[in-house]
Amino acid sequence: MSVGKSLPHDAARLHVTGAARYVDDIPTPANTLHLAFGLSTEAHADITAINLDQVRALAGVVAVLSADDFDEMPDCSPSVGDEPLLATGTVHYVGQPVFLVVARSHLIARKAARLADITYAPKPAILTYEEALAADARFEDGPRIYTKGDAATAIAAAPHRIEGAFDIGGQEHFYLEGQAALVFPDDNGDMVVHSSTQHPTEIQHKVAHALHLPMSAVRVETRRMGGGFGGKESQGNALAIACAVAATRLGRPCKMRYDRDDDMIITGKRHEFRIRYTCGFDETGAITGLDFVHMTRCGWAQDLSLPVADRAMLHADNAYHLRNVRIESHRLRTNTQSATAYRGFGGPQGVIGIERVIDHIAHALGTDPAEIRRRNYYADMAPEEAPAPAIQTTPYGQEVEDFILGAMTAQLLDGAHYLERRTAVERWNAEHPTLKKGLGISPVKFGISFTLTHLNQAGALVHIYQDGSIRMNHGGTEMGQGLFQKVAQVAATAFGVDTARVKITATDTAKVPNTSATAASSGSDLNGMAVKAACDTLRSRLESFLSDHFGESTFEWRDERVTFGAHDMAFAEVISLAYQNRISLSATGFYKTPKIEWDRIKGHGRPFLYFAHGIALTEVVIDTLTGENRMLRTDILHDAGTSLNPALDIGQVEGGFVQGAGWLTTEELVWDAHGALKTHAPSTYKIPTASDAPDIFNVALWDAPNRENTIYRSKAVGEPPFMLGISVFLALSNAAAACGPHYPALDAPATPEAILAAIARAKGDGA
Ligand code: MTE
Ligand code: MOS
Repeated sequence: MSVGKSLPHDAARLHVTGAARYVDDIPTPANTLHLAFGLSTEAHADITAINLDQVRALAGVVAVLSADDFDEMPDCSPSVGDEPLLATGTVHYVGQPVFLVVARSHLIARKAARLADITYAPKPAILTYEEALAADARFEDGPRIYTKGDAATAIAAAPHRIEGAFDIGGQEHFYLEGQAALVFPDDNGDMVVHSSTQHPTEIQHKVAHALHLPMSAVRVETRRMGGGFGGKESQGNALAIACAVAATRLGRPCKMRYDRDDDMIITGKRHEFRIRYTCGFDETGAITGLDFVHMTRCGWAQDLSLPVADRAMLHADNAYHLRNVRIESHRLRTNTQSATAYRGFGGPQGVIGIERVIDHIAHALGTDPAEIRRRNYYADMAPEEAPAPAIQTTPYGQEVEDFILGAMTAQLLDGAHYLERRTAVERWNAEHPTLKKGLGISPVKFGISFTLTHLNQAGALVHIYQDGSIRMNHGGTEMGQGLFQKVAQVAATAFGVDTARVKITATDTAKVPNTSATAASSGSDLNGMAVKAACDTLRSRLESFLSDHFGESTFEWRDERVTFGAHDMAFAEVISLAYQNRISLSATGFYKTPKIEWDRIKGHGRPFLYFAHGIALTEVVIDTLTGENRMLRTDILHDAGTSLNPALDIGQVEGGFVQGAGWLTTEELVWDAHGALKTHAPSTYKIPTASDAPDIFNVALWDAPNRENTIYRSKAVGEPPFMLGISVFLALSNAAAACGPHYPALDAPATPEAILAAIARAKGDGA
């Protein structure tokens, strides 16, 4: 059986040799034109005059378009239609596209884009949380509020109380391949679009809308992305639309790729959050009441901010059973890039809120944080047969039926010798005045399914050719996560053949229509099931043919053979025979996630089919004179259900953890007082490299089937491990806490400066 095998990524060799083809590598016809945007230099201003003569005058420039050139400005928004392709009269952030240059080369287009003479009448810009709140600048009428029980009364009656607030920075996606699109106009006005996107159907929809074409006239193809991480759910729209518009006007192929600086300046990032908490608890550390206020800077346009902020609220409980809780969420409009999806989709911000609270309680009581976690966990649920414990629900009313973190935590902490190491760290810290060590534990319970219920559907198309080779298509996209290989393993398993027999092909809106973004970690859950459905259809069609032909009724498909009665035929032989007998060898498949329903306004229902779990323990050391730090060791136990491919899943866990650690340590976005992003290249924005991974890095999978009926009982794995990076943040906070009696109240990212400030607070200096 192919499913469950640790096969390498299908394109691993192509990735490491540089042979893998991305949009920018597709050979283009000689008459292809290249595009670049001219960008706003103001955070908020009216455009009073715009002179593009110099831009037009540069040799090699073919066309220049600004708002004046459009009767109706195409829109790029994935949600509410508030993102004009080019600014119409007013600019809303530094970096907003104002005009479009079409030129003979990429370089000429970029050079020309610098030559504009634009006069602005500046308006007050809203950059900070305070400014947004004062101006009531937000994306919904007021805050969203979810409640369960009575938090205020419970907090007032609690024997102990803590309160605090902290800032959590955003994060640049830093996909290795930047945003890119390439559009070929057909002779009849139809468009073929190659896009580096997680959401080909969205690109198709937005291009069709911009050109007033039916969706059937636009075909979008995506072979692979060099990373997406959520940054290619909606942010590719502008490039594809710009290329399609230019291709229509000029009748030539058009291509656009953002240079790295432009990419960082133009596109949205992870949402920044400020979280305030007030928590009541008893002497054992059991939480009796909890109040959260989330504030998030959404940037200038709505994009996906509402579901992102919702998901932060939906993960405010993380692994903990809260009886009295109130969560208030403010989605603030600011004159900055429009924040967008990023691995975890708001979940990580919600999770770090309560992990901070747990850490703070442990500090206040002087108790082991592992103990406080266990005390507040949901109760573990054993497999179906066991008697169900009392019903436990999340703050949004979903029953938690599949919690396993109690057992996972015990196994991880034992295996990593937690208690001995805690003693050793305390001893080290008592003996060493300058270098302080810390330990951090972070569990994750992540809800799987799109919270917009209708997105939980997928389609597939499977062909078997007369030589017995198989070609598989589905709506999911490949961004490095290994989805295509996993789904190929599903198809191979369905027919009992080698995975090599299954051809992996580009995602194509002409083959599988109406797809959802490959997001919410649901790629293999949804597309695996859709492909299996198509394969099952083919298999039963073939079996009914074989039973008519040979009079047998039970069949076994394995090892590239089909056995039935006295017969034992090669798979390819069966296919050839079926073809000669005029049996259709092509089928579609469809899947929709069962059981889910969700009312986002009430904040109640079952948004998730199930939860995926993980737990991490990290040890760090900080230099208390400089704030520099290192990850010494991380141990992880992660729940991928019955893994479809353990090697790929472990890769996702390792990569997710390191990316999460980067978010909370070295990756710092800095805007100046004018609203300009100053960190827009790797010279000023530091992502983790291989040498930043922990010196000792033990990653294991918790091997138990999903209780829900997912594809081969596996669990989604793309996003959940990102939140295990929170253990690094907590470990740094723990090390800072060794410097003095007070709670260090570390902000994220925990840069050396932030760590020094936390140390000062721990000592009681000036905080
Ligand atoms: N892994 C790699 N290598 N590259 C990526 O861009 N994106 C992440 C995650 N893992 C990503 C990745 C995000 S944000 C999501 S939602 C999932 O992969 C999407 O893929 P899946 O649903 O197939 O897991
Ligand atoms: Mo992932 S943020 O859902 O693309």
